[in-house]
Amino acid sequence: MGGFKLAIDGPAGSGKSTISSLLAKKLGWTHIDTGAMYRAVTLYALNNKVNLEDETSYKFLENIKIEYKNNRIYIDNVDVSEDIRNEQINKYVSLVSSFSYVRKKLVEIQKETIQNGNIIMDGRDIGTVVIPEADLKLFLTAHVEERAKRRHKEQKQKGDVHEINQVIEEIKLRDSKDSTRKESPLRKASDAIEFDTTNYTIDQVVDKIIELIKSKE
Ligand code: C5P
Repeated sequence: MGGFKLAIDGPAGSGKSTISSLLAKKLGWTHIDTGAMYRAVTLYALNNKVNLEDETSYKFLENIKIEYKNNRIYIDNVDVSEDIRNEQINKYVSLVSSFSYVRKKLVEIQKETIQNGNIIMDGRDIGTVVIPEADLKLFLTAHVEERAKRRHKEQKQKGDVHEINQVIEEIKLRDSKDSTRKESPLRKASDAIEFDTTNYTIDQVVDKIIELIKSKE
């Protein structure tokens, strides 16, 4: 298990994915966005019209291949990276990810991907469940209004028109579901460093994390 393992957790819109992917580019490390995996399962479940409320519906995970590589997410070798980021997925992903069967399957895949090399993995339970032995654990937060503003900006760039208040409500609801679920709820690992990014630019956060990595290497 050579290499540096960086675990980044935090609530929706805290900048985890953007920051992780920039860090990975700067350092030449591998980034794994675990949220994309839960989103892919949600997409598959919606497309196949399974009963989302029934845990046994997710048995389909025995027969499909979910893969995250080079910043893209694949289901059975089909790139679904663009299809997993929309309102429908946002609405149902917390329900899908609350099932222990789904979590068990995805955590297995995630653990396989961290075998070798320098890794940055982001999600909700990385420091607590997926890589408890990580070399550095970060818990990124930001005020909900700031997180909603970032999401809203992203959505506008894609041509989605939503009221900012609607984005705030969606983020609050998802955070509340993710933090209160029974299985691996969103929480800061006891040995994680908490970083409130509200008043920092993405580049400032990335530079700060690089300093932290250097101090641990
Ligand atoms: O990170 P992102 O917002 O794309 O994650 C989407 C959803 O996937 C989260 O709201 C959460 O329900 C779920 N998730 C999770 N565990 C992870 C990563 C994401 O439960 N490690």
